[in-house]
Amino acid sequence: MNIFFKSFFLASVVAVTSIAQAQKQSIIKPTELWPDENGNHIQAHGGGITKVGKTYYWYGEERAKGLDTNFRFVSCYSSTDLTNWKFRGDVVKMSDPDSLGAKWILERPKVFYNKKTKKYVMYMHIDNRTYKVAQVGIAVSDKPDGDFKFVKRFRPLGHESRDVGQFIDDDGTPYLVFEDRPFGFRIATLSDDYMNVEKEVCLIPAHMEGGAIVHYNGLYYSIGSALTGWRANPNKYATATSLSGPWSEFKDIAPPETNTYGGQSTMLLKVVGTKTTTVIFLADIWKPKTQWDSRYIWMPLEIGDGKLWVPRPKPWSINVKTGEWKAE
Ligand code: DGJ
Repeated sequence: MNIFFKSFFLASVVAVTSIAQAQKQSIIKPTELWPDENGNHIQAHGGGITKVGKTYYWYGEERAKGLDTNFRFVSCYSSTDLTNWKFRGDVVKMSDPDSLGAKWILERPKVFYNKKTKKYVMYMHIDNRTYKVAQVGIAVSDKPDGDFKFVKRFRPLGHESRDVGQFIDDDGTPYLVFEDRPFGFRIATLSDDYMNVEKEVCLIPAHMEGGAIVHYNGLYYSIGSALTGWRANPNKYATATSLSGPWSEFKDIAPPETNTYGGQSTMLLKVVGTKTTTVIFLADIWKPKTQWDSRYIWMPLEIGDGKLWVPRPKPWSINVKTGEWKAE
């Protein structure tokens, strides 16, 4: 290599390395654009996090601009620090599953990893354009990043089901939380292979959606939002010593006049570290007319002794090994 090519080669290596370094993030910035490792705003709306080994997978609604409107897409991102996310692809690209009609709906995918079968099982809300079908759909994959194959859609235990949430208890038991519009939140166990909703554990008679649950220091906390479509509202929480209840009354998780800072709940993520445990509130700031620009609120909760509060969104960082977080 002559001297010209040598220096050109070295300069290119330096440039490529510094681009990669520039993309490395250490701070989570709620409400702002959240670039993935390619610099594109993360498209994982109404999503959920699945941890397998040391890797977190973030699945959600892929709503990038200009997608083929004949299909619905679920994206998958992976991370080991909850801050830098690598796009793993659209793991679901689905056309209308048997005649739901134009503008059919696939929302709020949640993936459970079954250690026995080694399958990744996705639950999602499937509906027609008027939200009257109210079913869950199931898709399954051998790998976290797909492809997920659609298996079936149905009403769990015969009930209407719109927003779905997932909860995995400390003993590893998976639960589906689903919104049964006439009655409230239902919490149900899954079959051994996770391919069916098996048994109802509780009906929380609250007319809410965006349901999520966490088990923290011996108490269950459930959160949800009011039924205001894409518009934000004051999300609320209740507590219980057992999943089957009785549940307390629902109380505000943030100053009600902020409408949960513009966000709607989708998950409560517990990070158990060597020093402490942090519970993160995951929410969507929906932009119904420009869904690709919808944002996220991820904030560590003030939680304990039956109280739960989402602090005003601000930049923060987390060390997933120790579980510690700090404001930035
Ligand atoms: C609120 C739900 O939580 C969202 O997932 C979506 O279904 C919108 N309603 C549609 O209005």
